[in-house]
Amino acid sequence: MSQTATASNASNKPASAAPASPGGLQGVVATSSELCMIDGEAGRLVHRGYEIGDLVENATFEEVAYLLWEGKLPNSTELATLKNQLAAAMPIPRHDMAILEALPPKTQPMDALRTATSSLCAIDPDEDSNDSDANRRKAVRLTAQFPTIITAFHRLRNGQKPVDPDPSLSIAGNFLYMLFGKRPHETLTRVMDAALVLHAEHGMNASTFAARVIAATMADMHAAVTGAIAALKGPLHGGANQDVMELLLECGDENTVEAKVRQMLSQKRKIPGFGHRVYRTFDPRATFLRKMSKQLGQDAGNTKWYEMSERLIPLMKQEKNLNPNVDFFSASAYYTMGIPLDLFTPIFAMARVTGWTAHIMEQHANNRIIRPTDEYTGPLGLKVVPIDQRT
Ligand code: COA
Repeated sequence: MSQTATASNASNKPASAAPASPGGLQGVVATSSELCMIDGEAGRLVHRGYEIGDLVENATFEEVAYLLWEGKLPNSTELATLKNQLAAAMPIPRHDMAILEALPPKTQPMDALRTATSSLCAIDPDEDSNDSDANRRKAVRLTAQFPTIITAFHRLRNGQKPVDPDPSLSIAGNFLYMLFGKRPHETLTRVMDAALVLHAEHGMNASTFAARVIAATMADMHAAVTGAIAALKGPLHGGANQDVMELLLECGDENTVEAKVRQMLSQKRKIPGFGHRVYRTFDPRATFLRKMSKQLGQDAGNTKWYEMSERLIPLMKQEKNLNPNVDFFSASAYYTMGIPLDLFTPIFAMARVTGWTAHIMEQHANNRIIRPTDEYTGPLGLKVVPIDQRT
């Protein structure tokens, strides 16, 4: 029954509708998808049939991108073609670079990425089409352009000249190369590549859902990805990795961080990097990032951040029965690699753009507008009183 109709009923109360969804759409199946399966009880994450552990140990980020977009792992010819396409698409258009130059240096990198991504559609050759071939080309371009945007903005805000991408390097290698201005060590490139694999896709998370809602209006891929970046920025989602590192830095040692976390819990505050809507056990991505954080610390001769992180795991388990999520160990890993804190969430976006674009393609290929309903809890039957008689 519509709200207009119920407004005229005798009680002036809305007729009872379907029961309200649990808060935050918990447990609601929003769509069907062939991309990603998460078993929160078992701590299992599967992309198109492949376990995340198998992918992170045996496939590169480019291979996983291909898997998400095409539904199969590439053979060597297909991978070479994709790498060529990515390399060709890495330089960003001049107008986009001019926008990055115009942004005040204090702009948050996630805001710079969102702004630059939005403007990329201006001269995208496939701007007018949501066809699967056009979307596939746009997915490649966006994935290739993200590392260039993030690193160019970072260098510009520090008064440095952006570094042109090197077509011989991978996405991970290029990110590090364009960020630091020198060719990265092979080990660091491998770690960054693994981090990208681990962050590439994760089902109906908030940013992906946002992307699918936008795509379901038949808005274009750039619009949907821009909205997804906006959703990822929040501290309850991708923004948590920066917050984790800020907490560790603020505390500075293991005892202080433990005391600080206890204090935060007593104030009913959330501890960044812990908890998850779906996982009831260890997030499988955190298992790999934990190893990476430890190894990076040992290689750098400083395991302090890793050890501080470890200290919080039993504490959070005991106090709240919560486990670390993907953002927990990525923080100490990225910090040990020398990556500035406010680039942590943009790195998440650099990986997740592959998942977002795969979902947008899936949505456009079999679309129905996403338009849920709500349970109205406001009043009915009010009449407009002339303004001079209102209290
Ligand atoms: N620190 C302390 N308590 C936490 C917590 C955290 N990180 N995460 C959840 N909780 C507590 C809540 O306070 C709540 O306790 P209560 O029942 O006593 O009120 C309970 O656990 C359920 O949490 P809720 O926020 O309702 O779960 P959710 O499914 O809505 O939220 C997250 C999931 C991820 C948003 C939430 O765990 C969180 O905010 N984590 C910190 C931010 C973060 O790391 N985000 C990255 C996610 S990958």
